[in-house]
Amino acid sequence: MRIAVLGTGNVGKTIGSRLVELGHEVTMGSRSADHEGANEWAASAGDNAGVGTFADAASWGEIVFNCTSGAHTLDALGLAGADNLNGKVIVDVANPLDFSEGFPPSLSVKDTDSLAEQVQRAYPDARVVKTLNTMNCGIMVDPSKLDGGDHVVFVSGNDDAAKADVTALLRDFGWTADQIIDLGDISTARGTEMFLPLWLRIMRSRGNADFNIAIVG
Ligand SMILES: NC(=O)c1ccc[n+]([C@@H]2O[C@H](COP(=O)([O-])OP(=O)(O)OC[C@H]3O[C@@H](n4cnc5c(N)ncnc54)[C@H](OP(=O)(O)O)[C@@H]3O)[C@@H](O)[C@H]2O)c1
Repeated sequence: MRIAVLGTGNVGKTIGSRLVELGHEVTMGSRSADHEGANEWAASAGDNAGVGTFADAASWGEIVFNCTSGAHTLDALGLAGADNLNGKVIVDVANPLDFSEGFPPSLSVKDTDSLAEQVQRAYPDARVVKTLNTMNCGIMVDPSKLDGGDHVVFVSGNDDAAKADVTALLRDFGWTADQIIDLGDISTARGTEMFLPLWLRIMRSRGNADFNIAIVG
């Protein structure tokens, strides 16, 4: 499959590399057609890895991962272009963290709205699926990194077929059916995005990011 990964940070590189490893073609998008970090990633990821602008990647991809800074996701998707997003599944991994006042960051949207809903409203013809945003990127693409098989990943979205497509990709990453929890429509992303303040405090307390949510009961 041709997959656009919008974002040149650790998340974009980690997801992009895993998708290439799984046999997909990946184009990493950024604000520049000649992004140093994206070029370095593509050189290390192999023949099926390419780079381009957000618009280049989104127009080429059959499915689009949003791995951009949550504070700038709407700007990044605006650069990708509505015509290049319409009809496509957008896998939204971003969190709306505002670090402008330092740590801990605030959420730029919460309670009665979420970044995922903002993206869905901005691109009503795209099919947004929020997932993977509640854990560190190393765990996203390799859940076996953590001992025990009981930790989970959430899926939120309005379109059942899109959620099925994303669930298939999650299974390829290594998530079992029991570990994948469909929370419901895209408004359920409010809960997973609002987990981040707690995630960040757990990370500070433990001194590492090697943990995830397990549901007991
Ligand atoms: N780190 C994790 O393990 C983790 C876990 C869960 C969720 N997340 C979420 O995943 C997302 C990616 O995280 P990350 O740490 O890999 O990267 P990041 O530093 O949060 O974001 C990097 C990307 O944001 C783009 N960007 C920054 N400012 C922009 C602007 N003004 N306009 C348009 N695009 C802009 C950058 O574009 P350029 O490429 O052009 O520089 C780059 O592609 C974030 O939303 C984060 O909250 C991260």
